[in-house]
Amino acid sequence: MTMPQHSSVENDLLARARKVLPQGSLGNVHLPDEYDFVVSRGLGSKIWDSSGNEYIDYLLGSGPMILGHAHPLVNKASMDALKEGTTFFTQNRYAIELAEEIVKAVPCAEQVRFTTSGSEATFQALRIARAKSGKDKVLKFEGGYHGINDYASISVTPDNPLPFPVPKKSIAGIPQAVVDTVLIAPFNDIETTVSVIEEHAKDLAAVIVEPVQRLLEPRDGFLHALSDACKRNGVILIFDEVVTGFRLAYGGAQEFYGVTPDLATLGKVVGGGMPLAAVAGSAELMSVYDSTIASSEEYVHQGGTLNGNPLACAAGLASLKELNKPSVYETYHSRGRKLKQGLQKILDASGVSGFVSGSDVFFDIFFTDQPIFDYRSTLSSDKRLNGVFDRALIHHGVFKNAGKVYVGTCHTEDDVNVTLEAFTYAISAVENALG
Ligand SMILES: Cc1ncc(COP(=O)(O)O)c(C=O)c1O
Repeated sequence: MTMPQHSSVENDLLARARKVLPQGSLGNVHLPDEYDFVVSRGLGSKIWDSSGNEYIDYLLGSGPMILGHAHPLVNKASMDALKEGTTFFTQNRYAIELAEEIVKAVPCAEQVRFTTSGSEATFQALRIARAKSGKDKVLKFEGGYHGINDYASISVTPDNPLPFPVPKKSIAGIPQAVVDTVLIAPFNDIETTVSVIEEHAKDLAAVIVEPVQRLLEPRDGFLHALSDACKRNGVILIFDEVVTGFRLAYGGAQEFYGVTPDLATLGKVVGGGMPLAAVAGSAELMSVYDSTIASSEEYVHQGGTLNGNPLACAAGLASLKELNKPSVYETYHSRGRKLKQGLQKILDASGVSGFVSGSDVFFDIFFTDQPIFDYRSTLSSDKRLNGVFDRALIHHGVFKNAGKVYVGTCHTEDDVNVTLEAFTYAISAVENALG
């Protein structure tokens, strides 16, 4: 297998990018220079770089493109909406219909507020909880990712974690006053988590959790016990379903695990690839947004120029319509399972220690022989080998970003078979790198 060749047109684009974009990137994907590329288009499960190299895409726009790129029905829906105008700042029928569909699908949702990004949605969910409870503190799990707002950017990837529940800011620019309102607990350790909740209940507004934290599945009973502890202690439970919403099941992780939180955040799939996310919850909690109570202590103003943008809502609605067809999730998950289990088998047959971790439809490898169950246990894995694995896949025409294989309903049996060959090749590259 050879390295994809890059044309002078693509090299020129990359050079221009490095001048005007910090690190030449949009902040999301950082490839070594020799692998860096500029995507030119996508169709179904494939993307092409600006030199014409084709890749089976397991980044899928970081998850929104679950149905594949340029899906004809999703494109048609947003183009039809576009003919009627681009944005209005006011109610539009697509936003109302999408909110209705979310309320039908997502167990905790009685009402929905749209935002433009998942980071805004998690920020809003935490604000609703603080407004409603009158309490300031929030608990997040070590290693959990909730976007780039200040509250979310704490204890995300600490090299030297502190004792629980002490928070550690993950990036510069976060005020210490914000850091001091965040408590940190270990995912999948219910005893420690409950003791933090109980000790801080009188100041604690909310617990926010990714039901599948990055690549860590919840242990049996963890989410149920978390929900019970929140209820007992008067703390609002937020499921951050930006990744899991409409992906683990049509009703998200809430349906999949049978645990209903107080609030949920949605993003990625729900906007069909357009800039759209949402916070959803009971009418009682969402009443903080009611401007007729503007003089009350609970009132939260939430606006946004592109909230509920009609093109994004039309794309989201069309995507949900496709996903809600019979047996879509069965086929989707069984295809993902074939890839995930196939990769574990390839690893087991090699001389490389590793676990494939995550759900059936988003997963990656931890290169370690130690069990993986929380953020600290992931520190035993050799991340350098993930780089070797990911780069070797590129040689084989398969693209994934660091941290996740996102499987889509667009991936065909053929894609799966080619990808399993690519996995075999990439694991032997890892074996070679180990010497
Ligand atoms: C679980 C989770 N929450 C929130 C976000 C933030 O969403 P966005 O990138 O749309 O701001 C992400 C993004 O990947 C996410 O994975």
